[in-house]
Amino acid sequence: MTTALITGSTAGIGAAFARRLAADGHNLVLVARDIERLRDQATELHDRHGIEAEVLTADLATDGGIESVEKRLSDRRAPVDLLVNNAGFGNKGRFLEVPVADELTMLKVHCEAVLRLTSVAVTGMTARGRGGVVNVASVAAFVPRGTYGASKAWVVQFTQGVARDLADSGVRLMALCPGLVRTEFHERAGMGVDDIPDWMWLDADKLVTAALADLARGKTVSVPDPRYKALMGAVKLAPRGLLGGITSKTGRKYGPR
Ligand SMILES: NC(=O)c1ccc[n+]([C@@H]2O[C@H](COP(=O)([O-])OP(=O)(O)OC[C@H]3O[C@@H](n4cnc5c(N)ncnc54)[C@H](OP(=O)(O)O)[C@@H]3O)[C@@H](O)[C@H]2O)c1
Repeated sequence: MTTALITGSTAGIGAAFARRLAADGHNLVLVARDIERLRDQATELHDRHGIEAEVLTADLATDGGIESVEKRLSDRRAPVDLLVNNAGFGNKGRFLEVPVADELTMLKVHCEAVLRLTSVAVTGMTARGRGGVVNVASVAAFVPRGTYGASKAWVVQFTQGVARDLADSGVRLMALCPGLVRTEFHERAGMGVDDIPDWMWLDADKLVTAALADLARGKTVSVPDPRYKALMGAVKLAPRGLLGGITSKTGRKYGPR
């Protein structure tokens, strides 16, 4: 039996990872801020699948939160075999409408936490000669999309670079780049999504199945789903100006502050 640590496990994509990995018989370390939700999730997964599910309350926008997860990842008596850096969020508004402090918080959660947790996790994994890290980025990494897209582009570049550096270590790293997924993400960010057509929405459970298959295949970047593979192919050919006009608007109708 192996152990997976998932950040942002209580909702959306992280919860889908937790369900799937528990069903496959992995023990879990569940990380998020809401202790009640974490406890309920751990109880449910334990009762349903008979796995051990620890809970770790941590706000990855703080040094203390990141440190507590680093500490858990470096515990040699209870090694973590798979790290899923999934916690993330969107800010409400376009550039200049979002306070710089909130942009920095995003960089802390999306980039600094991912860097620090990956670093500690792969230190143990390389010593053991096996392990995996999935860093949840986004297709926004490949298109003009403000600080959010830039932070996810960092996740992709970082993951590909580390995967290359550790190629012979037995440790696999993969950046997961989903398209739009029905989760709590858009509501939390105050984004109106009425103008997004149904065909663009992905199911979190199917996304996770495809992601884990890509990890097993040794991919370092995963864009699950043929619709988004085709879209990303078109993105490579589209003029950046035109692309920016479309991608900076999509899903960006914000409600009142
Ligand atoms: N949904 C999409 O369309 C989409 C598309 C591409 C990529 N993504 C990426 O997928 C990842 C997961 O997003 P999602 O759509 O599943 O969002 P979600 O449904 O809103 O879930 C976010 C999870 O992250 C946790 N979280 C948020 N901020 C945190 C913090 N500061 N510290 C610790 N945990 C935190 C939340 O729990 P607590 O509030 O209890 O902390 C929750 O468990 C994100 O990195 C997002 O950028 C999403």
